Amino acid sequence: LRGEALRELQEVESQGALNDLRVKYLGKKGALTEILRGMGSLSAEERPVIGGVANDVRAAIEAVIEEKQVAFQEAETNRRLAAETLDVSLPGRALPTGAIHPLNKVAQEIEDVFVGLGYSIAEGPEVESDYYNFEALNLPKNHPARDMQDSFYVTEDILMRTHTSPVQVRTMQAKKGEAPIKVICPGKVYRRDDDDATHSFQFNQIEGLVVGKGIRMSDLKGTLLQFVQQMFGSQAQIRLRPSFFPFTEPSAEVDVTCVQCGGHGCRMCKGTGWLEILGCGMVHPRVLEMGGYDPEEVTGFAFGMGVERIALLKYGIDDIRHFYSNDLRFLGQFARM
Ligand code: PHE
Repeated sequence: LRGEALRELQEVESQGALNDLRVKYLGKKGALTEILRGMGSLSAEERPVIGGVANDVRAAIEAVIEEKQVAFQEAETNRRLAAETLDVSLPGRALPTGAIHPLNKVAQEIEDVFVGLGYSIAEGPEVESDYYNFEALNLPKNHPARDMQDSFYVTEDILMRTHTSPVQVRTMQAKKGEAPIKVICPGKVYRRDDDDATHSFQFNQIEGLVVGKGIRMSDLKGTLLQFVQQMFGSQAQIRLRPSFFPFTEPSAEVDVTCVQCGGHGCRMCKGTGWLEILGCGMVHPRVLEMGGYDPEEVTGFAFGMGVERIALLKYGIDDIRHFYSNDLRFLGQFARM
C-alpha cells in the first residue's frame, strides 16, 4: 500500500488530483482507514505491530502530500507574480475630469469683483411671496409694470421670483435700519418667456444694493465702471441711458463698449459700438421705507444683471441655450480657461 501510494503521489500534477489521492488513502473510506478499522479482529500481539506499521505508512503518505502541497502553492504564487507584474513606468490613463460650468465661472468672477469692493453675499428663496417680489418693491397689485416680468404663480400670493430684488428687501428688513448695507444677491430667477436664443424661463441674476448716508448716483457710476473694467478689460467704458424701474428713481440702463469691436461697431453690437448689460438706479424712497429705512436719513443705489447675458457677451456666444444643453463640445471649451 505504501509503495503504491507513494508512486501515485510522485506522479500527481495538479492540486485537484492531490486532493483526490488524499481522500483515496487517508479519507474516511480510504485504504489506510480501512486497515485501521479492521484492527479489532486482530490478536492482542498483532495489534501493536500492525498499528505501528499503519501509523508509519500514514506518516509517510502525509509527508509526501505536504511536500507536494507546498510545491503546488509555490508554483501558483510564481504563476501569479508573473501574470500580475505591474510596469510602474507605463504612462497613466487620464481620467475624464469635470470642469466648472461657464455660467458658474462667470458668476464667480462677478462675485469676486464685488467681494473685492467690500460687498457681502446675500441669498433668498426662489419661491417667493408676492409681497417681497413685487409689493415691497413699489409694484402694487395690478400695477402695469408687473407685465415687464411675466411670472409663474404657485398660488395667488406665492410665485417663482422674477428677479433677485426681493433679497434687497429681505436684507434691509434683516438689518433693521442699520447702515451701511453693501450686498450682492446672486441666484436663479424665473419668467414666463418662451425659450429662444436670448430668453430662458429660468436664468441667473446678480443684483447689488448699497444703502448708506450720502450715497449718490456718481457712486453707482463709479462702481459700475470699476466692475466693467475688471470684467471686460481696463479699456471698457460705460454709458447710462434713462430708463424705468418701479423700485428705483431715477433709473438707468447701462451699456458697455462692445467687447468684440472695442466700440467701433460690429455685428454683435449692431454697429452701435455698445452692448446693454444691466439695469440700475437710486433706490426709490418708498422701497427704503418698506425696508425699514428713513429716506431722509439714507439713500442707496441698486443694480441687477443677468449672468447669462454677461457670459454671452464676454465669450461671444450666440445662443443662451448652449448653457443649458450640456453639450460637452461646448462646455469643454471652458474647461481650460
Ligand atoms: N430687478 C431688475 C430686473 O430684473 C433689475 C434691476 C435691479 C434694476 C436693481 C434696477 C435696480 O429687471
